[in-house]
Amino acid sequence: MSMPVRPDTDATVVDIRGLWTVFQSADGEQVVHRDLQLHIDRGEVLSLVGGSGTGKTVLLRQILGLEKPTRGHVEVLGQEPGELSASGAANVGMLFQHGALFSAFSVLENIAFPLRELKLLPDELIRHAALVKLQMVGLGPQHANKSPADLSGGMIKRVALARALIMDPPLLLLDEPTAGLDPEASDSFCDLLRGLHRELGLTVVMVTHDLDTLFDLSTRIAVLADQKVIVTGAAREVIAYPHPFIHEYFLGGRGQRALEALHDKPAGQSPAQQAPAAGR
Ligand SMILES: Nc1ncnc2c1ncn2[C@@H]1O[C@H](COP(=O)(O)OP(=O)(O)OP(=O)(O)O)[C@@H](O)[C@H]1O
Ligand SMILES: [Mg+2]
Repeated sequence: MSMPVRPDTDATVVDIRGLWTVFQSADGEQVVHRDLQLHIDRGEVLSLVGGSGTGKTVLLRQILGLEKPTRGHVEVLGQEPGELSASGAANVGMLFQHGALFSAFSVLENIAFPLRELKLLPDELIRHAALVKLQMVGLGPQHANKSPADLSGGMIKRVALARALIMDPPLLLLDEPTAGLDPEASDSFCDLLRGLHRELGLTVVMVTHDLDTLFDLSTRIAVLADQKVIVTGAAREVIAYPHPFIHEYFLGGRGQRALEALHDKPAGQSPAQQAPAAGR
């Protein structure tokens, strides 16, 4: 007897169809997303690139359930995002773009915060879980009682990441994870993210302006322009897509340097192998 074939939908982590986001402003309506489609499978590291103000952060917030789209369908692991059940809340962790830590809390209190809010576990267990996460992001227990003001930029990102992972979410959202870090701290944070992605089997959706981070971590790239996802695919495929934004973004001076670094790597190193397709 043959094993049943798992339907494709089992692999789906994020399914976005026909999404519209419209904000009302003093000057009228601002359409940020217009009939946007995006489909993300388990295990992907999907990077979202697009100009400033194209709605990348808003899209992450919609996946997290903090904001509702004006119209359209967003599903995360078969659920509507942000359902107030414990399981819904535990599905997605997010590293915020300006994800400051609570300055009045210690490192450990910051990491433990989402778990403490749930009021389901005794303090000692929560403390233990937070210490495990601190170690998971490469920081020793000697940092547990420090104040955020006493941490370097790279350490702050790590603590924020530990907080995002405290509920063991299968889906992790990263909004500009390496912005503001020096190249060394940025490389080391990328190494950490790569290791966690592999070891925890995470699905990751990442917004980044940093081309090194983009080429380093992504299994697939999605480009946001003209209010929608205009193309998705491996780096080489996306770069070949004819669109003024892509040309400017990847083939300007900054892009050229990052691309040269990419070409220096052996062929086939990029895990992204899928054919380009809008919104897939
Ligand atoms: N709550 C809101 N009310 C009104 N307008 C909003 C709201 N949230 C976002 N916007 C607008 O939506 C657009 C997209 O914002 P968003 O923060 O998602 O951009 P972004 O792609 O993340 O940009 P950046 O790369 O600079 O971070 C912006 O023009 C922003 O002003
Ligand atoms: Mg943003």
